[in-house]
Amino acid sequence: MAHHIAVIAGDGIGPEVVAQGLRVMHAAAGRFGFELDVTEYPYGTEHWIATEEILPDDSFAEIQQADAILLGAIGDPRAPVGLIERGIIGRLRWDLDLYVNLRPIKLLDERFCPLKGKGPAEIDMVIVRENTEDAYVQKPIFENLGTPSEVASQPMSYTRKGTERIIRYAFDLAMVRPRKHLTLIDKANAVRAQDLYTRVFAEVAEDYPEVDTAHLYVDAACMRMIESPESIDTAVTTNLFGDIVTDLGAMLQGGMGVAASANLHPGKLGLFESVHGSFPQAAGKNIANPLATINACVMMLNYLGESEAAQTAETAIAELLQGGRIRSLEVGEHATDEIGDLVIEQMAATTLA
Ligand code: IPM
Ligand code: MG
Repeated sequence: MAHHIAVIAGDGIGPEVVAQGLRVMHAAAGRFGFELDVTEYPYGTEHWIATEEILPDDSFAEIQQADAILLGAIGDPRAPVGLIERGIIGRLRWDLDLYVNLRPIKLLDERFCPLKGKGPAEIDMVIVRENTEDAYVQKPIFENLGTPSEVASQPMSYTRKGTERIIRYAFDLAMVRPRKHLTLIDKANAVRAQDLYTRVFAEVAEDYPEVDTAHLYVDAACMRMIESPESIDTAVTTNLFGDIVTDLGAMLQGGMGVAASANLHPGKLGLFESVHGSFPQAAGKNIANPLATINACVMMLNYLGESEAAQTAETAIAELLQGGRIRSLEVGEHATDEIGDLVIEQMAATTLA
């Protein structure tokens, strides 16, 4: 049976990095004997400029029939800020109720980390970002627009249901990670609405006596991620804070060139994407690092049940980074398609123990 993948390559470097991700997926399919049925959709800023369409309902319905979605990147200065991002990424996350945004932060080699004296033993965490609530899904209100008495607001609001399900997911994940340690990241001392997170976390913790817990306000969490990243293993946080701390986390593992994410709702369709944006300045130059998208594809392979393929790709990538064939993760150090070639070549040479 073929896995049906819906692909939205999107803006900027999206198409280039997605092309490499798909090459790796096809190589894995050939090697491990599964089929891929890929449908590419043209949505993104270019398409919006040409047609005024963002994500039409009939395509959205069709995409929901896929087994997984692969997204490149969205964002282009030619469109109003946030219009296409909210219309595509936002709509997929919110309308499909993909309440988990899973963002692993795993350093594979010390030389990719900007922190002194920290290596793979210290940087291995997973941030569980809530993905369907918070200011993200609220309407902005501009009262007295453009006047001296203007007031702009967009509430940070959280439901008990939304809070509880993400916290439960995080506890379940912490249980299957070796350290069984979960940190709640919020800012309940200032945003008192987040007291809901603090309370629900304490309630759910009672069902998981084996999990060690910690609580950090988001400012302190940023400090800790730099000062003692080893103190964080699994962490759960709100949508907006999750967005912020995962960019910081991406830098710890080598930058935006490698950070990947999965948007999930257990038992439903999953969406896989890099954490980085569309990087329009690099578009079409074959200089962007596709590893973030390739890593997202690895997460997708796991989700599709192709765990041997996923593990082989993961091992190959680790060997390339640790062995120095991928010298640097900086833009322009390797060509985009060269990284794709290297991963495919190394996969062919990798057999699992
Ligand atoms: C991310 C991105 C998005 C977000 C943007 C593009 C809307 O930064 O996936 O982290 O804020 O969620
Ligand atoms: Mg972000």
